[in-house]
Amino acid sequence: MNEVVSPQEMKRIEDKASEMGVAPVLLMENAGRSIADRILNRFTDLNDKSICIICGTGNNGGDGFVAGRHLAVYGAKVDVILLGPENAIKTAEARASWRQIRAMTRTISIYALNEENKVDNIREIIVDAEIVVDAILGTGVEGDLRPLAARAISLINSSSAYKISVDIPSGLDPLTGVVHTIAVEADVTVTFHKMKVGLEGRMKQTGEVVVSRIGIPMEAEMQDLD
Ligand SMILES: NC(=O)c1ccc[n+]([C@@H]2O[C@H](COP(=O)([O-])OP(=O)(O)OC[C@H]3O[C@@H](n4cnc5c(N)ncnc54)[C@H](OP(=O)(O)O)[C@@H]3O)[C@@H](O)[C@H]2O)c1
Repeated sequence: MNEVVSPQEMKRIEDKASEMGVAPVLLMENAGRSIADRILNRFTDLNDKSICIICGTGNNGGDGFVAGRHLAVYGAKVDVILLGPENAIKTAEARASWRQIRAMTRTISIYALNEENKVDNIREIIVDAEIVVDAILGTGVEGDLRPLAARAISLINSSSAYKISVDIPSGLDPLTGVVHTIAVEADVTVTFHKMKVGLEGRMKQTGEVVVSRIGIPMEAEMQDLD
């Protein structure tokens, strides 16, 4: 079995895991929890720490919602910024995670952006945070970065926060490692199940790379089990 996989191979592995009964919602829970664990290991005491989690509308963003739920329970002051309206959230598992954090009205502040509510209106939340979680784009990125994502990435990079990227630094091509416009420059990237090929040799964007197993069975990689 390969130790390094492409985004397409990762998708096949996730689909196979789902066929085996390991539902995407379980993988999202484990992924988000592993992000929270990494932050806990680094900081130990999260009481009143300001953590800004910037999320896209795909499952990478869903991992960010789950991380926020866990981190708020440790007393962190959590802000979640969704780069889009909430009706743009793509998958059932991400929508479920979103509903959970929506209900955490005392411990999590939520900002869903649209044309009128631009990211620059809340730039201080990103720039002044002690910890920033980049959950904008993962293996599902396609084509040129859209302006909202590009602007959010620029604000993340201008922050002196400790930065953690979920699976892939947003803006980095997960297959080629090329940065077409701009990419997050993270202190650490927690990538799921296996190293992704585009992360190799891209320390400037990835920082330290940690591979976190999220409960995908190794059988999901074995072709002969079809
Ligand atoms: N499924 C699983 O089993 C599993 C397990 C563990 C973790 N994950 C997480 O899920 C991630 C993959 O989720 P995903 O397939 O939903 O993809 P994604 O990486 O979340 O990206 C897809 C989202 O990004 C938007 N997008 C795509 N290209 C863009 C661009 N160039 N500029 C701005 N926005 C863009 C898409 O919008 P449009 O649809 O409008 O184009 C969509 O909302 C992984 O990286 C990992 O973090 C998944």
